[in-house]
Amino acid sequence: IKQKSLKNIQKAQDPNTINDIRVELLGKKGAITEVLRGMRDLTPEERPKVGSFANSIRDELNQAISKRNEMLEIDRTAKKLEKETIDVTLPGVPVNAGQPHILMQVIDKIEKLFLGMGYEIVDGPEVEEDHYNFEMLNLPKDHPARDMQDTFYITQQILMRTQTSPVQARTMEVHDFSKGPLKMISPGKVYRRDTDDATHSHQFHQVEGLVIDKHITMADLKGTLELVAKTLFGKEREIRMRPSYFPFTEPSAEVDVSCFKCGGEGCAVCKQSGWIEVLGAGMVHPNVLKMAGIDADIYGGFAFGLGPDRFAMLKYGVDDIREFYLNDIRFLRQFSQKG
Ligand code: PHE
Repeated sequence: IKQKSLKNIQKAQDPNTINDIRVELLGKKGAITEVLRGMRDLTPEERPKVGSFANSIRDELNQAISKRNEMLEIDRTAKKLEKETIDVTLPGVPVNAGQPHILMQVIDKIEKLFLGMGYEIVDGPEVEEDHYNFEMLNLPKDHPARDMQDTFYITQQILMRTQTSPVQARTMEVHDFSKGPLKMISPGKVYRRDTDDATHSHQFHQVEGLVIDKHITMADLKGTLELVAKTLFGKEREIRMRPSYFPFTEPSAEVDVSCFKCGGEGCAVCKQSGWIEVLGAGMVHPNVLKMAGIDADIYGGFAFGLGPDRFAMLKYGVDDIREFYLNDIRFLRQFSQKG
């Protein structure tokens, strides 16, 4: 038994086989176990002899088994290490890195600019109350100017915000002027009931700004917007303001930026006039201040609203606003931040 078993143990290639051999010899019903058990039938003189002989064989076999196990383990580790060798000369697998959406890149840039000037960035709900989206902004029910912003109503009082101005209304209402002026921008998505085409999307973005303090003038507004135009479109840019109408500002202005060549080759966003309209702005209407509980005789301010979608279209020569929302990876990849 001993010789045969030792041979088998040496031949065994995996721990399971070894274990089977062990059970066969030393298990409950194993051959050696049987011999040891059979000792009670022996005479007292035979017992110690047979006993020590059987025990020595058992120990020898046990030793052989653990040795073989050790050997196999060493073997296995060696094989594993061999397989795991890394060939450092192989070319790397490219990591598919993402990047912020081009609109987010434009908004980030605007946010950085305004943070640098001490503005606060404020978020608000996209599902908004009529009260904040219109009423508080000097647009009572039945006001004809509501037609300027075709609205998705959810109920009579709840709607998808058509502008980010309601965030200003909410902030004005709670701002504590004893702690300083109000300077904020509110970037975000807005919704209008438009039929989508190259220049219209039922969902787009706005960044609106609001400053309220004592002694704010239109010159402050113009200086701020000029900085926006120069930061986003280039130092050589100029702006001009044309009289316009918004219900929440008086006076109101549409703001043009001087024409320019955009990112891609041969892409020139120039109109005959040499100017392109980029945003709306004005001095906050006294009614808006009053409705927010602000003393319009002491405080005043300016507000503006710009569309990052339009900015990005002009800057990068994108001729269809829908490109921003189709999420075609081939389109989006063009705006790698390194470029
Ligand atoms: N909220 C306005 C709009 O969407 C833009 C705007 C904001 C105009 C602030 C003037 C002042 O039309």
